[in-house]
Amino acid sequence: MASSSNSLSLGPFGLLGGVGVLVITTAVLLGTFVYFFGNSNNTPITGIPLIGKQEGEKDYTEAKKRWMSSAKEIVNSAVRTRKHPFQVFGMNGPLIIIPPHMTSEVRTDERMTFKSWLKRDFFTTYPGFEGFKPAVDNNVFIDSVRMGLTQSLATVVHSLAEEAKYCYDEAFPPAKDWTPVKFNAIALRFIARLSAQTFMPPELAKNEEWLRISVEYTLHFGHGGYVMRAIPPLLRPIAHWFLPQTKQLREDVETARRIIEPTVIARRKEREADIKAGRKPKKYTDAFAWMDAVTEKTGDICNAVHGQLNYSLGAVHTTSITFTNCMYNIVGSPGSIELLREELIEVLGSAKSWDKTTLNGLKMMDSFMKESNRMHPASFMTMNRIANETITLSDGTIIPKGSALTVPNTRLYDEEFYENPQVFNGRRFYDMRQRAGEESKHQFVTTGDDYLPFGHGKHACPGRFFASNEIKILLAFAIMQYDFKFPEDQGQPPIRAHGLENVTNPEAIMLYKSRTPEVSLDLDHTWR
Ligand code: HEM
Repeated sequence: MASSSNSLSLGPFGLLGGVGVLVITTAVLLGTFVYFFGNSNNTPITGIPLIGKQEGEKDYTEAKKRWMSSAKEIVNSAVRTRKHPFQVFGMNGPLIIIPPHMTSEVRTDERMTFKSWLKRDFFTTYPGFEGFKPAVDNNVFIDSVRMGLTQSLATVVHSLAEEAKYCYDEAFPPAKDWTPVKFNAIALRFIARLSAQTFMPPELAKNEEWLRISVEYTLHFGHGGYVMRAIPPLLRPIAHWFLPQTKQLREDVETARRIIEPTVIARRKEREADIKAGRKPKKYTDAFAWMDAVTEKTGDICNAVHGQLNYSLGAVHTTSITFTNCMYNIVGSPGSIELLREELIEVLGSAKSWDKTTLNGLKMMDSFMKESNRMHPASFMTMNRIANETITLSDGTIIPKGSALTVPNTRLYDEEFYENPQVFNGRRFYDMRQRAGEESKHQFVTTGDDYLPFGHGKHACPGRFFASNEIKILLAFAIMQYDFKFPEDQGQPPIRAHGLENVTNPEAIMLYKSRTPEVSLDLDHTWR
């Protein structure tokens, strides 16, 4: 309690000591000077039209604010009238927007990379920010997802279903009457648990401290990045030691290390003993093993603690937002629960176990998930890149080395690509799959120039197949075991844009009531 009163008296730097406050104050004053007079991030890129700054504005402060509050509107209206790339002023300075008809130029060009974007925007060389190092320093993290996680998809379906049962038992106790819950937080915990069940060994999968870190680290990462961006580059090497947000990040990494390291050490010793005794080393199915498999092949190095943090950064909030939006869109559109329940009764009623075939059978659910992702992707801009050299695009636009660029998801709301794009139509993609020759197209995990929520091409999200499985299983348990509705005085919680992210109000309420499922969800007859 004492520290909280201290923190109040010291304002935003409440967690710092007095010396820290002095250093930061000096840093900010100095920084303001350097920022406005020496920071190249405040200079627009030559030769590319700039939008979002109004006449008479001396600097880019208002343009940046406008971007944070209405990025989607700004880009949607600009893309309608412009054929060529243009730039806006985002929080990190100029950002080149590539119109969607030029997506292929981004997805096939290895001179612009997602990695460099992570490196520039997420301070991975500073302590506390190591959670993105594996994605930036080499390919171990990305390849471990591509190969290890993807190859394990079929074998983990059953354990995901079992974990889903325990999640619902914990968060939704039996209720005869309508009972309020704050679903955002519940969804985050569910995804954290299902992720840990898959990425962690059994002795750590249910560790409450790890589950907390796997959710909070991403939030702290966002806060840390935000304050670091506000500090001029020259001062960051000093300031980061004193900022409460970056201090928190260092604490998170240390906690993760304390939780994870004993397992890593024990496993290394076990392996050495096995090899010494002429035995084949024991095989594991978790993210440690997937990362090890890549490092053994490539000789690259990946810290196991940072690797697990990277898995959380990539998997937990992205999937949770997608799951929450999906749930809200289903509960908010009349008749949807009944339609999905009908399909579940049919598919689960004849299924032999929780496996790939069972999940593939849920075609109507897949369509609802894709439609929800179409209307409310986790992020409005998904192909974020930095040009690692100067590049000339096919229309003659010159992208200077070091520039940030991105492709907006505007086609998701474009009449030319989707009929009645502003209306949620859960059956949309199911109906499209009924057309001859298109039976296996238009799935939740399918990407395309007109569907970029997971990016598209070589660097499209490799974790989307796992996310799809998690969301399907969680929806199946929800729809079969409960009825849902929103309180009348609240309605369906609106999804608000915060910069490029689509977020729902964490305080939003959903009401649930227990029901008896028509078919058993214990498909494998293994529940304790
Ligand atoms: C619904 C949940 C998810 C969404 C919306 C999502 C979205 C994205 C997006 C937009 C990208 C960038 C694509 C590009 O730049 O072209 C990406 C990349 C990536 N995602 Fe996901 N993601 C999700 C779940 C996951 C999960 C569960 C994992 C597993 C750890 C994961 C791992 C990755 C990796 C490794 C990359 C980098 C790929 C590369 O650069 O080659 N994602 N994701």
